[in-house]
Amino acid sequence: MMNIHPISTQSAAIQTKDLHFYYGDFHALKNVNLEISKNKITALIGPSGCGKSTFLRTLNRMNDFIPHTRTEGEIFIDDLAITSPLTDVVELRKRVGMVFQQANPFPLSIYDNIAYGLRIHGKKDKQAMNRIVESSLRAAALWEEVKDQLDQPATRLSGGQQQRLVIARALAVQPDILLMDEPTSALDPISTKKLEKLIISLKEKYTIVIVTHNMQQAARISDHTAFFLNGEIVEYSDTKALFSNPQKEKTKQYIMGEFG
Ligand SMILES: Nc1ncnc2c1ncn2[C@@H]1O[C@H](COP(=O)(O)OP(=O)(O)OP(=O)(O)O)[C@@H](O)[C@H]1O
Ligand SMILES: [Mg+2]
Repeated sequence: MMNIHPISTQSAAIQTKDLHFYYGDFHALKNVNLEISKNKITALIGPSGCGKSTFLRTLNRMNDFIPHTRTEGEIFIDDLAITSPLTDVVELRKRVGMVFQQANPFPLSIYDNIAYGLRIHGKKDKQAMNRIVESSLRAAALWEEVKDQLDQPATRLSGGQQQRLVIARALAVQPDILLMDEPTSALDPISTKKLEKLIISLKEKYTIVIVTHNMQQAARISDHTAFFLNGEIVEYSDTKALFSNPQKEKTKQYIMGEFG
């Protein structure tokens, strides 16, 4: 399958070249060539098990934690080959933050959840810390709701607030890229709308890659959409074009709800 997907001439934040990924003998990603644009929202769609999360995890080497896995090919982030064994993965994961389906606040206070990453990276100055905690919570549209309870356990927040908290936590270490794996699937419609609005506002400063099962969501918030099937990219284009005029029969069937 022809599988080169440059979407525009603007600079790519992420570029994968002939990327393959294996869990043991299982070939989970097959020849993925993708250019993800800076300061855009790129949606990854496709049926369950097609490799969306696997792909997302290759982008900050989270798959390294899974034994008996193997990556082939290359991934560049701003021309840095992150697949290289020389890559500082701690630094990489700071630049490429990740938000999961189930919000996963640490069993700490709201404040300490945000400060956690900063402390790991050696920042200790209390005033600087206060500033970053506030600006991160503001950027994640959570500050007004929590500013008077920063010392309260983060686990007491609602699901939607927890999801915004983990976004704030990711932002605190000043990433360039945010990976989000179905970040709204556990949320009610109002929290979902709020999070979508937040995600759209974040693209001004960050490059965002979001996995979603919700086609309306992909259409509402993303600039570009990649359709995955069985570990391959079937189609990748401008979101409006992909949904209004899919070029591949499989894409058409998927967005019409005929499978998946
Ligand atoms: N840790 C693992 N070990 C072995 N196989 C795995 C592992 N994680 C995922 N897989 C397999 O790799 C394939 C892709 O899985 P992945 O989780 O990336 O799919 P997905 O598109 O994110 O699906 P979903 O929409 O259900 O989240 C599936 O066949 C899955 O069973
Ligand atoms: Mg998944």
